[in-house]
Parts: sequence; structure tokens; C-alpha cells
Amino acid sequence: MAVPLLDLSRQHQPLQVQLEAASASVLRSGRFVLSEEVAALEQEIADYAGVKRAVAVSSGTDALLVAMMALGIGPGDEVLCPAFTFFATAGCIARLGAVPVWVDVRADDFNLDLEDAEQKIGPKTKAIIPVHLFGQMASMDCVMALARQNNLQVIEDAAQSLGARYEGKMAGSIGEVGCYSFYPTKNLGGFGDGGMVVTQDEALADKLVWLRNHGMNPRYYHRYVGGNFRMDAIQAALLRVKLPHLESYHDARREHAAAYLEALPDVQAFALPRELEGRHHVWNQFTVRVPGGRRDALRQFLAERKIGSEIYYPVTLDQQECFRGVGRGSDRLPVSHRMAEEVLSIPVFPEMTVEERDEVIAALKAFA
Ligand SMILES: Cc1ncc(COP(=O)(O)O)c(C=O)c1O
Repeated sequence: MAVPLLDLSRQHQPLQVQLEAASASVLRSGRFVLSEEVAALEQEIADYAGVKRAVAVSSGTDALLVAMMALGIGPGDEVLCPAFTFFATAGCIARLGAVPVWVDVRADDFNLDLEDAEQKIGPKTKAIIPVHLFGQMASMDCVMALARQNNLQVIEDAAQSLGARYEGKMAGSIGEVGCYSFYPTKNLGGFGDGGMVVTQDEALADKLVWLRNHGMNPRYYHRYVGGNFRMDAIQAALLRVKLPHLESYHDARREHAAAYLEALPDVQAFALPRELEGRHHVWNQFTVRVPGGRRDALRQFLAERKIGSEIYYPVTLDQQECFRGVGRGSDRLPVSHRMAEEVLSIPVFPEMTVEERDEVIAALKAFA
């Protein structure tokens, strides 16, 4: 039996009628950019995340970019960024002329190692980006304490973690800003690109609203140099159909993860991910670690059994071609480099059947 890493058609099929109705309604309205659909989605996400304001944008990448622009991060400013994350986190820092300071991650939750972050703070360090990788939040109490002591702004990269919680608080709701992605593979996957910035700060939210539309306010009067980071109406309308189901998607992912954790031995051959104390993990990815140079062998073993897997991420950011010699801190990133060699993500999508899950478990046990 083949088991895909993700199968979005299974998620969308039961919503087909509602999705088509939502698209048709936007087509008939003739309002395709921003619009009342986008405003409604913003309100619904703000309510869900427990924040005052949400500003819809064109992607998770643009959410990070416009958030940093709104916070005034610019040339020469340093931003603490994990070395083991998706490219966009650091790409946005570099695009603003700011300097990424590479921070190591922890092997237990793949998130920022805050002792390393503290040691790498310098006089120009202005912000820190905790990335809540794979659906589990970074240790936000420690992030906030470090940030307050050192006068750093906190940009939560919650692209993979909408709905995750830390001590009951939602991902994205704790720092100055939180950024979400609606890229199709995310837990709230859209129909193309989309993203959202959330904040508790009304003045910052107003600035975000202007910046996503060329810094314009009022019409054709430009207060800031912003960009076109607007969300399309059709994207918002379709996401609004899926949002009421998001918690049930998380529940299904959590059930799969619990079943894996119960059935699989936590052995040398592969180390299992964990939900740490006080966290509510939404398992955007279920990522095992295979030490001893055997990760690619496991991937091959699964592929032979037609089981999907993916390496998120094979190269740390400090080692990317475009970042050679860029930034600070690359001399000490042992865990990040090890993660890039060891990680493998396996199927954990909500609609995976129990039979499919058992197939994955049997394969992993055979490998172990
Ligand atoms: C951690 C992280 N940050 C940022 C992004 C960027 O989001 P998007 O693909 O919507 O631009 C992604 C998703 O791809 C991500 O996983």
C-alpha cells in the first residue's frame, strides 16, 4: 500500500461544494483584491489566535518581510535567527540589509537554543526570530525574558504552527508580531500562497496595513515605502471554508503522532520527536532523527515501500551558497549541522488512514 507524505485531495473532497460556492461568490462579486472576504478572514484568525489584530498578506514570507519592515529593521541591524529553519526566515532579514546572526537549535524540539542566542547578542542586535518549527513552539518564556533583558523585538515565525500553544498561549500571540503561512502544505493550507501577520499592538497593525499596500494612506498618498503584499479575495474566501475545521485537523495529526510514539521504539536507529512539557504540538511534521549517516538509507527503505518522506532541511542556512560569509555565529552550530544530516519527516497528514499509519509503523520497525 502506498502512503503519501500528504494528500490534499482527501481534505478538500468533503468541502468541494462549499469551496466551489465560495469561489463562485467571489467571481460574482467582482472584488478580487483584499475585500470583505479578507477582512472577515482577518477577524476570524485574530479571534482564533487570541490577538487584537490580524493583517492578511500574500505569503508567509511576505508576512515576515512586512513585519520586519514595520518594526524598522534595516541596514546593519542584527537579527538572531535559527540556522536550522526554512530559508524565508533569514532571506527576509538579508533582503532588508540586516544581518542574520545564526543561532543553534536544540535536538529535543528543533527550536532556538537560547543559551547560544544569549552568547551571540552584540551591540547591533535588534531582534530575535523564534521559529516554531514543525508545529511545536519554542520556549517562549525564555525568548521573552532574553528579549526584554536585551531590548530585542520578537518576531514569531509561526508559519508551521498556527494553533500551537505554549502554556496555553497561541503561537504568534506572544511576541511583538507573529507570522503565519497558508502555503498548501501548512496545517491551514490554502489554494496558492497566502499569509498573515498578527499583533496585539494597534499602531503596529495600522502600519502593517499601509505597508502591505505600498505604504499608502489615504489613496495615492504614500507615507512609507511598502510593497504589494496584499491577499486575494478568493484565497480568503477559500481559507474561511477550511478554518472551522482546523482544530479537527490538528486533533487528527495529534492522534497519528500519539500512535507513532506509542508503537515505535525510541531506539538508536531513530530518535522520535517529543511534545515538550507545557506545549500543544500541532504536528505540521513528524520528524524523526536517524544518526550515524543512516538517514538516507531509511529514506530509500521507505521509498521502496512507496512511503513518502521528506528532508526538512538538508542544508543549514549558514551553509547555503547565498549566505556564505554572511552573518555572524556560524562558527558554533553543532546541533543544527547534525539535524540537517539526521532529520526525516514521515506522513502525519490528518486524513491518513489507520491502515496507512500501520504500514508506516511496520516499515519503521523493520528498519529499526
Ligand atoms: C518556518 C517557515 N517560515 C516561513 C515560511 C514562508 O512561508 P511561505 O511559503 O508562505 O512564503 C515557511 C513556509 O514555507 C516556513 O516553513
